[in-house]
Amino acid sequence: MDEQVLYNLNISYTQNYDLSRQLLPLARKFLSNPSQLTNEWNYKNTYSNGAGLADQAELQFFVDYILEQSYNYLDKHNLKLKSNVKLWVSLFASEMFAGDEHAGHTHPGALLSGLIYLESPPGSSKLEFKSPRTSNASWLNYLDESSYSSEGDIFTVTPDHTITVNPTPGLFLLWESWALHRVPKNQSTAGRVTMVFNVGVQDK
Ligand SMILES: [Fe+2]
Repeated sequence: MDEQVLYNLNISYTQNYDLSRQLLPLARKFLSNPSQLTNEWNYKNTYSNGAGLADQAELQFFVDYILEQSYNYLDKHNLKLKSNVKLWVSLFASEMFAGDEHAGHTHPGALLSGLIYLESPPGSSKLEFKSPRTSNASWLNYLDESSYSSEGDIFTVTPDHTITVNPTPGLFLLWESWALHRVPKNQSTAGRVTMVFNVGVQDK
């Protein structure tokens, strides 16, 4: 039989330690500026509805990197933007301490979402994606978790079909913003530092 793939959860990733080393002092600078902090979701971060840190001149190299990776993602998966729009980036920094968590959510205002880990001290929470298939109990109960692909030490699939991502500095992830994910309670005493972004569109 031929096959037509209609939906898939594709998570693009790359390990770029040099990039995380370059970003860490910048993230720390913004996270230590009280006027940048919004502490949305009750943990330390600079999230805002607008472009956020993507407007900062010293982070343009990272915005350009995100845009390049995002256009590559769209091309790779044959996803085509409507002709009147182009991609646009919103960026924020985040630092989680012991007890901080982020409940399950999607990023409905965006097409693609992602992050780069900058610091992941012992006890740092993994990132968890929920398989869309688990909304059907049969797929959860009758399908062995080994049916899902996993990659080396980065991705693991648990018996309840949760896709977990092991946070290591320099790991850059990009996924489709409809994917339901969460960050369970962080256990690290030192800060778990990330830069997180959403890629939406704006008129050309
Ligand atoms: Fe998220």
